[in-house]
Amino acid sequence: MQQLRTRAEVRAAVAEARQNGSRIALVPTMGFLHEGHLSLIDRARTLADCVVISVFVNPLQFGPTDDLERYPRALGRDAELASARGADLLFAPSVTEMYPDGEPRVSVVPGPEAERLCGVSRPGHFRGVLTIVAKLFGIVQPDAAVFGQKDAQQAALIRRMVRDLDMPVQVEIAPTVREPDGLALSSRNVYLSPDERDRALALVGGLNRCQALFAAGETDPEVLRAALRHALNAPGVEAEYAEVVDSARFAPLQRVVSGTVCAVAARLGTTRLIDNLVLGS
Ligand code: PAF
Repeated sequence: MQQLRTRAEVRAAVAEARQNGSRIALVPTMGFLHEGHLSLIDRARTLADCVVISVFVNPLQFGPTDDLERYPRALGRDAELASARGADLLFAPSVTEMYPDGEPRVSVVPGPEAERLCGVSRPGHFRGVLTIVAKLFGIVQPDAAVFGQKDAQQAALIRRMVRDLDMPVQVEIAPTVREPDGLALSSRNVYLSPDERDRALALVGGLNRCQALFAAGETDPEVLRAALRHALNAPGVEAEYAEVVDSARFAPLQRVVSGTVCAVAARLGTTRLIDNLVLGS
């Protein structure tokens, strides 16, 4: 696996792969890789001959009170894991490489979907995400890009950006990878104390309860929302949102159907976790 630090190096390496007839797939990440990210590499491998993984903790998507400074970073380990999983190129630029003029004056404004759920407590977050993803698409020019279902709202907004801005990229969403007890893998799980780690199971507990209610015929979103709120109403869990929304717009709906998304966010101590589940999946 080649490790690259500059945009020019990536462009040259991708151009060479293309000349050899390769399709290119991109897996954008912020590093501190876990099995969830590695499963995205597996998916990318099914879509292309050359898999590029980017590792970049993007300051533009962190608010002033977010965890930018303490966000876990381990580039050496990430490179070993990505290489062992079969990535061909790892692009790990510096902040000045990606934003040579400081904060970009032009950025991608997401649709109104960005103002709901995570957008409420993290204003500007999705503008930062879409802007870096658009930049990565511009640099790598992938045929396909793979993102995780764990960040369902992000995935929907990226799909929308690609559609509205006619970006020639096939966007693929890979399923959330979970611990054996159901906790969704996240780079932020490393912040959790053992006690918080136990309490964090409230998130997946509420989502599983919704899946069971739906399987038993429940279609009232209020009933499912109440089940999510009930699960998050536990000691040490500070619920941020518990929503039942449609998968494209992340808007409330009248009746739950297969494909409806149940989504939760909560704080465990100083750690903010999100999780979601697509009903009927
Ligand atoms: O999901 C993430 O890790 C990030 O939001 C992404 C898509 C790599 C953009 O920085």
